[in-house]
Amino acid sequence: MSTPLIGVSKSILKIKELINHVANTCLNVLITGETGVGKEVVAQSLYAESNRSTKNFVKINCAALPETLLESELYGYEKGAFTGAHKKRPGKFQTADKGVLFLDEIGDMPLALQSKMLHVLQSGEFSPLGSDHEFKTDVWVIAATNHNLEERISQKNFREDLFYRLNIIKIDIPPLRKRKEDISPLIEYYFRLYKSEYPDNHGSKPDSDTLAKLCDYSWPGNVRQLQNCIKKQMILNSWSKIFEELPKEPSENTSDIQTDEQQNGTLSSEDNEFGNHRSTIISEFVDLSTSSDKLFEDISLKKIKKLASNRVEKEVITFVLEKVGWNRSRAAKILKISYKTLLYKMTEFDIHPPVK
Ligand SMILES: Nc1ncnc2c1ncn2[C@@H]1O[C@H](COP(=O)(O)OP(=O)(O)OP(=O)(O)O)[C@@H](O)[C@H]1O
Ligand SMILES: [Mg+2]
Repeated sequence: MSTPLIGVSKSILKIKELINHVANTCLNVLITGETGVGKEVVAQSLYAESNRSTKNFVKINCAALPETLLESELYGYEKGAFTGAHKKRPGKFQTADKGVLFLDEIGDMPLALQSKMLHVLQSGEFSPLGSDHEFKTDVWVIAATNHNLEERISQKNFREDLFYRLNIIKIDIPPLRKRKEDISPLIEYYFRLYKSEYPDNHGSKPDSDTLAKLCDYSWPGNVRQLQNCIKKQMILNSWSKIFEELPKEPSENTSDIQTDEQQNGTLSSEDNEFGNHRSTIISEFVDLSTSSDKLFEDISLKKIKKLASNRVEKEVITFVLEKVGWNRSRAAKILKISYKTLLYKMTEFDIHPPVK
């Protein structure tokens, strides 16, 4: 069963209304928004509400595959079309016929494939690789991206004509920090879900102070990040641990530092001007709000180097894994490390694919 679109904010209510309006029109939809905001949830909701819901919902991640593979996945191929094509295979345009084709990460589709895609969208016809025949297809195309496509167009990385074809209905999902009213219902929903999944765990829901803190946080990873926190809380049963592990926000750090510095009067105004930038970085690894004595005890260059390098490694590995749709062997190749090393590092840095 697909995830329901949870939320009570104005923007989510508007999106729900729009979903109801367009679900049976089959007008192409472009869903935009930062990572983790729920683009796939919205695509699934459109499908579930439509009269195509008894047919297939076929997803393809345009960022996860190299150009030639993406082309053969989309359009299929005839036997002998290329080395290794031992038998004929249908493409996504065929399996999604009468249903929905969800083009995820459309902003990353290579330019060469964009022209072919435009042709299919205009004519409703496609040819599998190695075939002379044009086949008819009736798919409802829903596309999603976290890129700014207008920017990609101006950089000549995305075709303007394809953009207009896809962008007949646009659904832009705001980041969670701009719709804080959704935080509490999302917590409620995921708590219930994980309670049934992990009945032996005793995580507690946040009290009002904790909830206020959760609403104050900026959630750079949006709903996915919140969802993972709730899952962790179910297992750890410690909100303070969860807060400790949340990536710190620069503005929060800066204000902490100023208060501390002002109180101690340890920095001249000149130091302060440059110190804030420097301290913001340092505060990611040591607690600058403690007294100078304790602070100097805590600062060890070796320790900080290790923490910083782990942090960067974790960011880079997660970034690449997300880009390739969590295909680990592909990520290992891109990162130029062995598959085994990648698995080891994923365990070490607690990197997991998003919960679907
Ligand atoms: N409004 C929502 N209600 C319930 N769950 C949600 C909602 N929005 C997002 N989620 C959950 O958050 C996670 C991320 O959502 P989703 O995969 O749809 O995001 P996305 O925008 O496609 O992210 P990405 O750009 O990284 O692919 C999923 O597990 C999804 O179920
Ligand atoms: Mg997605």
